[in-house]
Amino acid sequence: MCGIVAYVGQQEALPIIIKGLKRLEYRGYDSAGVALIDQKGLSIYKKKGKVSELENHLAENGNLKSRIGIGHTRWATHGEPNDVNAHPHYSSSEKFAMIHNGIIENYEVLKKDLLQKGYQFQSETDTEVFVKFIEDIYTHNNCTLEEALRLALQKVVGAYAIVLINLEEPDTLIAARKGSPLVIGVGEDEFFLASDATPIIEYTNKVVYLDDYEIAVIRDGKLQVKTIENIETSPYINQLELELEAIEKGGYEHFMLKEIFEQPKSIADCLRGRLDPKSGRLVLGGLRDYMNKFNNAERIIITACGTSWHAGLVAEYLFEEFARVPVEVEYASEFRYRNPVITDKDFIIAISQSGETADTLAAIELAKSKGATIFGVCNVVGSSIPRTTHAGCYTHAGPEIGVASTKAFTAQISVLTMMALKLGYQRGTLPESKYILMLHELADIPAKVEKALQTNDAVKKIAEKYKDARNMLYLGRGYNFPVALEGALKLKEISYIHAEGYPAAEMKHGPIALIDEEMPVIFIATLDSSYEKVVSNIQEVKARKGKVIAVVTEGDKQVKALADHVIEIPPTNEAFTPLLSVIPLQLLSYHIAVMRGCNVDQPRNLAKSVTVE
Ligand code: F6R
Repeated sequence: MCGIVAYVGQQEALPIIIKGLKRLEYRGYDSAGVALIDQKGLSIYKKKGKVSELENHLAENGNLKSRIGIGHTRWATHGEPNDVNAHPHYSSSEKFAMIHNGIIENYEVLKKDLLQKGYQFQSETDTEVFVKFIEDIYTHNNCTLEEALRLALQKVVGAYAIVLINLEEPDTLIAARKGSPLVIGVGEDEFFLASDATPIIEYTNKVVYLDDYEIAVIRDGKLQVKTIENIETSPYINQLELELEAIEKGGYEHFMLKEIFEQPKSIADCLRGRLDPKSGRLVLGGLRDYMNKFNNAERIIITACGTSWHAGLVAEYLFEEFARVPVEVEYASEFRYRNPVITDKDFIIAISQSGETADTLAAIELAKSKGATIFGVCNVVGSSIPRTTHAGCYTHAGPEIGVASTKAFTAQISVLTMMALKLGYQRGTLPESKYILMLHELADIPAKVEKALQTNDAVKKIAEKYKDARNMLYLGRGYNFPVALEGALKLKEISYIHAEGYPAAEMKHGPIALIDEEMPVIFIATLDSSYEKVVSNIQEVKARKGKVIAVVTEGDKQVKALADHVIEIPPTNEAFTPLLSVIPLQLLSYHIAVMRGCNVDQPRNLAKSVTVE
């Protein structure tokens, strides 16, 4: 949610910032802006719309040369997307400017006070209040800007990753974070700041992850980090392993399509080094120190949002089937405010692609305060969730840039499957012979995903037929019920077609009223323990003239005879079906969205990393 980039060094700042903003555009894309210092002074350029609009605007302003600058791509929270509300925001003196990712919750109180002091505001943003609040302290205390920022941070409530640029110190950047991510790239006499490592990776692989309540000052080519209590800390330099190709489209038309097709590899990467069916070994290093807690957990609570929550629902089936532990799956946004009953016997699993989702972070803090053990399943290395949980496993799916989550979902399920198998085996609820068979089957999943991807052309033809539908229903049972939810979410978020996912049997308790010849119904009807029941549900839809598109197991005859279209996926153990059945559903939403002319990678109103509640 909002992307920030900044640069100071010997290179031209603007091209680095613009490239960085394009890399971060998936985090927000309703307006963008930059601030630069050159001979003319401190100038801000900002524009409603995508970074490309900002580029056009910059081109009208001639050759802008600067060795220092800050940039922002916005996902609106306070104030509609327009030029004025875009970041950066000036102080009243126009001596300094700020970019901000996050929300200042007490901005109204601060604004009222500043208005009484005579400050004027151009925008409706909390950020303009924030920068003028810093200015007020700066002016009245006659202190340095970093000291004014430090004092201001003691008064602001909310989340922020900010960077300040100051005309009076034209080689200095000041940054701070609480609750929103900020990474500092350390080059040779140059520094890069960004919301994640993607704008940095082509210049340096040395990064510092700023912690909450820390302030970074980059001055005269040196980085100094302090807490807001003014205690100096020594920044730890991490080595990034990210490859530049991983964040480029690599010949695909969209990141989403690339990421769908990457799944055989991303699942294999997730299993690599962890799963060894021959020796029967399943090594999850992140669990090592917490194995006792995990084995003896009286309950597993899974908390997440959106697609990650759907992965959690799949895990509920897995843990209950194999390890016989009661599982609850909670929307983080509800869990955090519900005063839930949590004890130190609970094992909490927080799932998040970005590792930054504000609600999931708050749910973790709540569970931590009640003494539970928290385990993170995250994709982005070094993000906030892995740094606040007791232990965790990375999904190793590689950067997911398309806003609609695809490969992160299957990687999450892969990690959760390994956890469930391991727990079942250790608790003695999963017999060794079955455990070994399951490990072998899991190792075959990447090859089966590859086969499932071969449905692409067939799915595209189906998409052509149904691209103008106004509603769609997704139905599945058992392990495929969460897949139905996920299929519906994928369709609505990128194609803007209204879609609902339901357990197939629930259809007759309401949604069946919607069915007529206009209504496409997507069934996940693979050969599993609920197959016959799903076949009956398909008959119920056909009896009402609904159009049936069914995802079936290769060689299926019964559903083929009933459905209007079938998409065949390879057979696997029922518990692993979601890893295959979701593939044609991802492809279906992708093709429909492309055919409808939608912006697949950056759907309207959405952002990749939801750092506000
Ligand atoms: C949907 C999607 C979102 C995210 C949700 C949680 O395609 O991507 O529903 O799954 O915002 O995000 P993370 O997993 O980053 O916590």
